[in-house]
Amino acid sequence: MFIQLHSYTAAHRYLLDLVTREGEFEEPVAFSAGQYGWPLLRAARRGRPLTVDGVLVRDWNPGNRKGGYSGLRLGARLYELDGVRFAAVHFNLDFNMDESGLSFFAVSGKSYRRLYRSALKALREIEPGGEPPILPDEQAQNLWKNSIGFLESDNLKRIRKYGGRARRGVLLTGPPGNGKTMACRWIWEECRRRNWEYRIITPNNYQQARRGCDAESAIRHLFSVQRRGVIFFDDMDLAIRDRETVSETEDQAVFLTALDGITIKEGVVYVFTTNCPLKLIDRAFKRPGRIDVALDFQPPTPELRMRLLMRWHADIRAGIDLDLAVEDTAGYSFAEMEELRNLLIMRCAETDKWDWGWALDQFAENREDLQTRIRSALGFSLPEAVGCNGDE
Ligand SMILES: Nc1ncnc2c1ncn2[C@@H]1O[C@H](COP(=O)(O)OP(=O)(O)O)[C@@H](O)[C@H]1O
Ligand SMILES: [Mg+2]
Repeated sequence: MFIQLHSYTAAHRYLLDLVTREGEFEEPVAFSAGQYGWPLLRAARRGRPLTVDGVLVRDWNPGNRKGGYSGLRLGARLYELDGVRFAAVHFNLDFNMDESGLSFFAVSGKSYRRLYRSALKALREIEPGGEPPILPDEQAQNLWKNSIGFLESDNLKRIRKYGGRARRGVLLTGPPGNGKTMACRWIWEECRRRNWEYRIITPNNYQQARRGCDAESAIRHLFSVQRRGVIFFDDMDLAIRDRETVSETEDQAVFLTALDGITIKEGVVYVFTTNCPLKLIDRAFKRPGRIDVALDFQPPTPELRMRLLMRWHADIRAGIDLDLAVEDTAGYSFAEMEELRNLLIMRCAETDKWDWGWALDQFAENREDLQTRIRSALGFSLPEAVGCNGDE
C-alpha cells in the first residue's frame, strides 16, 4: 500500500495528539517497543480503550487473550505501570507491514526513562527461569510432573471434574549438595513466571507463627495459598524426623495437624526438603495425602558428572581432561564439584593454568582441615545417635 509521506506523518500526528490529550501526556514521546512490547502490556494495568476518528475494532482472537495484548484490532488503549500512564496505539492499515507511525506507544517525556526501566524489568520477569538442577531424566520428569505439571490448569480441571485432591506433597531427600534447594529455587522461578503463588517456609518463620497468640490460625495462614501455588519447606527437619528415634516434640504434632487442616482453594503443592534419609522420617508424615512422592537426590553418576562439567566455561573445559575429571570425582556431590571449579579459577588467577591436580589436592586438604576442626570443636565426643545430616 502506497501512502504519501505527508499523509503518513499527518496520520501519525493525529494519533499521537489523540492519545496525548486522552492520557494527559506532557511533551509526549512515541516509541516502538519491539521485544519489550508484550511484557510491557502484560505487566501493566489495562485502562480504557480510545476510539480513533470514530473507529474502534475489538479483537476476539482467543490466542491473544492471555495478557500482553490490547484486545484491539484498530484503536488505542491507555495503560498504567509503576505509576506511569502510557498509551498503545494500533492503527495499522496493512497488517503485513510494520508501520511504526501508526502502531506505537506514547508516554510523557518525563516518564519515558522510567517506563523503559519498568519494561526492562517486565521482560526479565518472563525470561527463562533459573537453571534446572542436573538430574536423571526420569527424576527430572517426576519433579516437574509433581510440581508445576500438577498445578497446570488442565490437570487441576481434571482433578476437580473427577473429585480428586488438588494437593500434592513432595519430599526431596538425599545427602547435602545434590540439588534439593536448587530444585526448589528452580520450581519457584517457574511459579513466579506463571504468576502463581509461592512461599518459602523457614524454621524461623514457622517458629514465629508458633509463638504468636493465635498459633493455630497463624500456621494455617502460613500453609495456605489464595491462588494456586507451591509452598516450600527447606530443611524442615524439626518437623519431620522420626518420633520413635527422636522424642516427639509438640512441634511435629502441631505441624502435621496444621498441614492436614488446610482448605485448598485452586491447588497447592507442598515441597519438603531434608538431608535426613527417608528411613529416619516419621511414618505418620510419609503417609499418602501428606507425602505423595519422595525423590532421592543422590551424588551424581559419571554421566551426570559429565553433564555438570559441560556447564563449565569452555576455557576450563579445554584446559582439563574431562574423562579424568569424571573419574577423579567419583563420590563427589555436585556442590563439591562446583567447589573444585572455584579452586581451579582461583589457581588460574595466579598461574594462568587450569591445574586440575592442584585443585584436587587443595580440595582434599581443605576437607581434612574442616574435619579436624569439627572434631576438635566437638571434643571427639560425637554421640552415637544418627544425625540428620545424611552422612551416617
Ligand atoms: N543436581 C545439580 N545440578 C547442578 N548443580 C547442582 C546440583 N546439585 C547441587 N548443585 C550445585 O551445588 C549447589 C548446592 O546445592 P543445593 O541445591 O543447595 O544442595 P542441597 O541438596 O543440600 O539443598 C547448588 O547451588 C549448585 O551450584
Ligand atoms: Mg538445601
